[in-house]
Amino acid sequence: MLKPKVYMTRKIDEKYLEAYQDQLEIRMWEKEEEAVPRETLFKEIEDVDALFAVLSDTIDEELLSKAPKLKVVANMAVGYDNIDLEACKRHNVTVTNTPDVLSETTADLGFSLMMATARRIVEANEWVKEDKWKSWAPFFFAGTDIYGKTIGIVGMGRIGEAIAKRATGFDMNIQYHNRSRKKDAEERLNAKYVSFDELLETSDFVVTVVPYTKETEALFNKAAFQKMKSSAIFINISRGKVVDEDALLDALKTGEIQAAGLDVFREEPIGADHPLVGMQNTVCLPHIGSASVETRAKMVQLCMDNIQAVVNGKEAITAVL
Ligand code: DGY
Repeated sequence: MLKPKVYMTRKIDEKYLEAYQDQLEIRMWEKEEEAVPRETLFKEIEDVDALFAVLSDTIDEELLSKAPKLKVVANMAVGYDNIDLEACKRHNVTVTNTPDVLSETTADLGFSLMMATARRIVEANEWVKEDKWKSWAPFFFAGTDIYGKTIGIVGMGRIGEAIAKRATGFDMNIQYHNRSRKKDAEERLNAKYVSFDELLETSDFVVTVVPYTKETEALFNKAAFQKMKSSAIFINISRGKVVDEDALLDALKTGEIQAAGLDVFREEPIGADHPLVGMQNTVCLPHIGSASVETRAKMVQLCMDNIQAVVNGKEAITAVL
């Protein structure tokens, strides 16, 4: 019997795929850290039933028109702004993502960025490694406290809640803004719903976890940064496009805000010459929110389980469409 064909746009260790090889014919791009050229991808997907994609793959009308047998795109991310859902609908292609399995890990990273920026951890580490530590001083690398401060979470979904949960352990005053109120989360996490403006004006840490949509495009613009406290620390673990990066850069340069911890950027990857990387008061990471070995393994598994379900005519486990 012919097995359904799957193409994976990144190389993934075979050990994560063993459980599926009996039932699926899996081919993959040969490189882990380099995207498959689009022309190569178009050839590879001519006969496939399923596509295992990552967040930097653009899944659009052009691509879908090259894959007449495609039934499912399994995106290895919770966000799916790289996918044209309308085009997938037209082509009858199911789209799946990887919610839940990555919430705690991504919240850990968000909190790590808060701690790294507030306590100047990266800067201090570089100081030691550059052999610059010559003596101890009273205000040497003095940062700002996290415990007892006010955290403002923009986007109270699963990851937002996981961040709030961590904030309770730091005795933080938790406030959030979301499209809809989360009364249950308010009770469980002692979180207060506030307007977007109030959150900006009163939070010591502004953490964004909103998905990227037309509505959230450059949500954090000049006006937003101007509303923040001059001591505020801005953390972005959602998508770069929810931020106007020029406005952020200005805010960091002029002292409108204190620091920023960024896991995501408008155009990824960025180079060392990116102006936000050049700032002393930023910590910049290469989009590693969900990057723990345990969680990445669960994400691969969920993608493969979704693929297996759909090619066998069953409901996807985590369909976005
Ligand atoms: C996601 O899943 O959308 C994250 O950005 C990946 O780290």
